[in-house]
Amino acid sequence: MGMNYYQIKKNARRARKLVIRGTTAAGSGHPGGSFSMAEIMGCLLYKYMRYDPKNPLWEDRDRLVLSKGHASPGLFSNLAVAGFFDEAEIDTLRKLGSRLQGHPDYKCPGVEFCGGSLGIGLSFSIGNALAAKIDSKNHRIFTIIGDGESDEGQVWEAAMTGAKYKVDNMTVILDRNFIQQDSYTEKIMPLDEELTGDDLSEMWKDASRWKLGDKWRSFGWNVIEIDGHRIEQIDAALKKATQTRNTPSIIVARTVKGKGVEHMEDNPKWHGVAPKKEIAPIIDLELDCQFMIAPSIIAGDMANLENEVKRCVEGRADYIHLDVMDGQFVQNTTFDHNKIKELRPLTVIPFDAHLMINEPVKHVNDYINAGCDIVTVHAEVCDESSFGEIKDTLRQNQVGIGLAINPDTNLPEWSFQFLSDLDQLIVMSVVPGKSGQKYIESTHQKTQDLVKVLTEHKFDGFIEADGGVDLTNVGQCFTDGARAFVGGSAIIGQKDVRGVISDFRKEILKARRKLLIKKAYDLGGRDLVNKWIELHLIGDKKTQLIQMAKELGYS
Ligand code: DX5
Ligand code: ZN
Repeated sequence: MGMNYYQIKKNARRARKLVIRGTTAAGSGHPGGSFSMAEIMGCLLYKYMRYDPKNPLWEDRDRLVLSKGHASPGLFSNLAVAGFFDEAEIDTLRKLGSRLQGHPDYKCPGVEFCGGSLGIGLSFSIGNALAAKIDSKNHRIFTIIGDGESDEGQVWEAAMTGAKYKVDNMTVILDRNFIQQDSYTEKIMPLDEELTGDDLSEMWKDASRWKLGDKWRSFGWNVIEIDGHRIEQIDAALKKATQTRNTPSIIVARTVKGKGVEHMEDNPKWHGVAPKKEIAPIIDLELDCQFMIAPSIIAGDMANLENEVKRCVEGRADYIHLDVMDGQFVQNTTFDHNKIKELRPLTVIPFDAHLMINEPVKHVNDYINAGCDIVTVHAEVCDESSFGEIKDTLRQNQVGIGLAINPDTNLPEWSFQFLSDLDQLIVMSVVPGKSGQKYIESTHQKTQDLVKVLTEHKFDGFIEADGGVDLTNVGQCFTDGARAFVGGSAIIGQKDVRGVISDFRKEILKARRKLLIKKAYDLGGRDLVNKWIELHLIGDKKTQLIQMAKELGYS
């Protein structure tokens, strides 16, 4: 379908919401494993696979085989978002007569395999892939297997078969979420090494224990190991895997079961349980609360931007914010597309280019060619016709569409028609031109007001807070409605980039938890607040939430 990074992200969020809607309505189902594979599904269905939702049995379509069939809510939700059927059909999940059952069935359009009897999807896929070769067909098979089902001997028989027959028209993605039905995989049937003790959820995160990739390598497979929630890593891995010839490829994607909902994350209890009806709206809000940190490299050593990019990578940034200044729209000059092109090979982390330049419509192609993932232009130097052209060019090239407004700019009238197309709106909280300025306080109110307007106009992108954002105000910026946060002097200007990014995340997480507790209170008073808190079983989340509820006067 050829979507850009941001569209994939938005669709994954939409699909997660449908999973909650469907399982809540059904009163049963498997949200945990649906969420661990959400970004994997997103990259496959919205970028890589060729199919026609109006003609699901088109002969040359790529095939998506969900071997871990119990995660069917995740499959159905994405098929709905991809247009195979109406999203409202998710309300029939697991109901008598529905096409959407607890495990995938052929009667649902887009389903290629009746999965759920675990361990057999890989063998089925190899058969399909070999058949395609015999028929001289070019379509690919994409197969998602689970780590729990890797207990089955058949998986390893298929591993040998795939290598023997050099099945290179199939890509396998292993959703390595470390949890199977009852507990952690490393406790039940270790794939890495056996873990014993009390704190298994911490232990499995220790990368030095991970052996599963080597197991597949020893079977003769091309193995690519990634973080399975980072769209850019999945994207790069799929590209590599689909280009590899004469060897079968498997992407070992490390994921978190229940990813996206704090109380479900890494909690074996959420393998196969549906949320309670009164909890669902709080989860729905939580799914809107995903956030991204975008360090701005101009706050570092301008003579060595390569090193600043490396610091962002080591710091686990979500995006790299690139402030392009032309000496005209703003006084300073920083760098242009040529520098970005040089930096591009250093990382797959999305490049978030913020163009503070005049006449952006003349330059947008340069930034596309330089490898930017999103290009944001200023409203002050656009009008209906030039922005329309920018938007179309970016969309055609699978690049995200961003609009920025200065502190004293309001959304211009012409922009309203484009709001539903925007992937990002940058709300400047300093007068653009340099890093290291103080956050303009009135931006908090401005952002809150903007959220209302944006919602009315079906904006489903992310607001990015840019300028003077630091640890003291990032929580409030989140509460205002921002979901991406630029940090120049407060991140790149600091010695320990990784430490400060982690502190940013902690501050935002605090604000997010507050927002959700408040939502629980609004919906059901103290009772619901307590029920919400009780769900947070893993780690010390519960203690922290109790404290927070106390401070808010809700307990
Ligand atoms: C300002 C830029 C910002 C800025 C961020 O013109 O758009 O991205 O450099 O730096 P801090 O966070 O230091 O304001
Ligand atoms: Zn910026």
